Amino acid sequence: MDGLSRRKMLLAGGALGAFGALGAASPAGARSLWTWSPSASVAGAGAGADPEWVWDEEADRLIAAVIDRGDVPRVNEQLRTWTRNDQAPPAGLPQDVRDFMARAAQLPSWADRGKLEAAAKFSEGRSLYLNVLNGIGGGMLSTAIPREARSVYYSKGGADMEDRVAKTSLLGFAIGDLKAYRADGDCIVQAVKTRMVHAAVRHLLPKSPEWTRTSGGQTIPISQADILVTWHSLATYAMQKLLEWKVQVTPAESAAYLHVWQVTAHLLGVRDEYIPATWNAANAQSKQVLDPILTSTREGVELTDTLLGQLAEQTSPGGIDRPLVNAFARYLVGDRVADLDRIPHEPFWEKTIEVVWPKLVAYREGLIALPLVPPLAWTVDEAARQYILFYLTKGQGTAIEIPDTNRPV
Ligand code: HEM
Repeated sequence: MDGLSRRKMLLAGGALGAFGALGAASPAGARSLWTWSPSASVAGAGAGADPEWVWDEEADRLIAAVIDRGDVPRVNEQLRTWTRNDQAPPAGLPQDVRDFMARAAQLPSWADRGKLEAAAKFSEGRSLYLNVLNGIGGGMLSTAIPREARSVYYSKGGADMEDRVAKTSLLGFAIGDLKAYRADGDCIVQAVKTRMVHAAVRHLLPKSPEWTRTSGGQTIPISQADILVTWHSLATYAMQKLLEWKVQVTPAESAAYLHVWQVTAHLLGVRDEYIPATWNAANAQSKQVLDPILTSTREGVELTDTLLGQLAEQTSPGGIDRPLVNAFARYLVGDRVADLDRIPHEPFWEKTIEVVWPKLVAYREGLIALPLVPPLAWTVDEAARQYILFYLTKGQGTAIEIPDTNRPV
């Protein structure tokens, strides 16, 4: 190995430009008319109302009341003891919160245990790819999604991005875990907590003058349309990239991976009539809701810089390998999104990653022999592992909690 630290190289890892579909997106910022049909959803039917104007009435009313009556510390204390899918909501919770959580924690009637189990096995086997795609790729996409970037920036967690990423990773790791939706897993727990956090953000952010000034006229954040956008930046993006990378995914695995995200969307409070029933439906919806809205914002650019700085710090103490991190991020999300995020070009590392990452994938997929994998590829592989390990470890010391303030000004 040359003088470069292996960790730095690791970061250089993701090489293929991210969203294939995004390359051909329409001008940024323009929301398309909602024409996606509920017949393509898991519900198979619905009113077809534009999700831009739908939030989460039940959770929003409840959590607004919890905040207004000063119950957040008490609820958070109880939430910390709620850790397993098969656990009833803690008895110390206010009755209305406990009743809501008991209802919200029910799997939908269409949930298929067999598929959830198959998804868990698939996610475990592909955990390196999926964690890199959802963690780093999804992170870089989120900062090019203006509403998400600004919500995150101006909410409480925006002031401490390391903690915020660790908390967000709790749900990501829960989805990817072998136990995910089993009785002793915690997917249901993390998703229901997240639904309550989002409800809190809907109550709090409209009181932030900075958010209101930059929200583009939206008066309540995190609409169902917004959640779908983020869902595609995680689920649809990851599946697109796996296929682009020629990772072998059987039809059953593909359906199972979709299913785990369908169930998760339901638990996050998304109405069944908006949840795509197939990958074709998901790709079509993603084209309509995600591609057109990607754009650059001051907040997103700053968050990107913070996130990439942290990534460089974690995978190469001292942060000297930031160019590798930049190139890795660019590889994962592609030039269009990387440019929106103002990620600098790193010609040397970009070329290196473009060569080594496909070889690494091909080797892992059993398509080429070990001698054909350039040694640098393993540095990339190790860096990805270090990154994932860092957040796995950080996540153990944290918990998803309901905020009761916005980002301090
Ligand atoms: C909080 C996941 C959609 C904005 C969280 C948390 C998770 C999460 C796990 C808890 C972590 C924490 O408390 O910091 C997701 C998933 C989504 C989604 C899986 C869609 C599938 C969105 C969207 C927005 C958003 C669309 C905004 C447009 C926020 C904000 C917080 C949050 C502002 C709270 C930050 C804080 O105050 O600490 N989300 N989210 N999320 N999410 Fe989401």
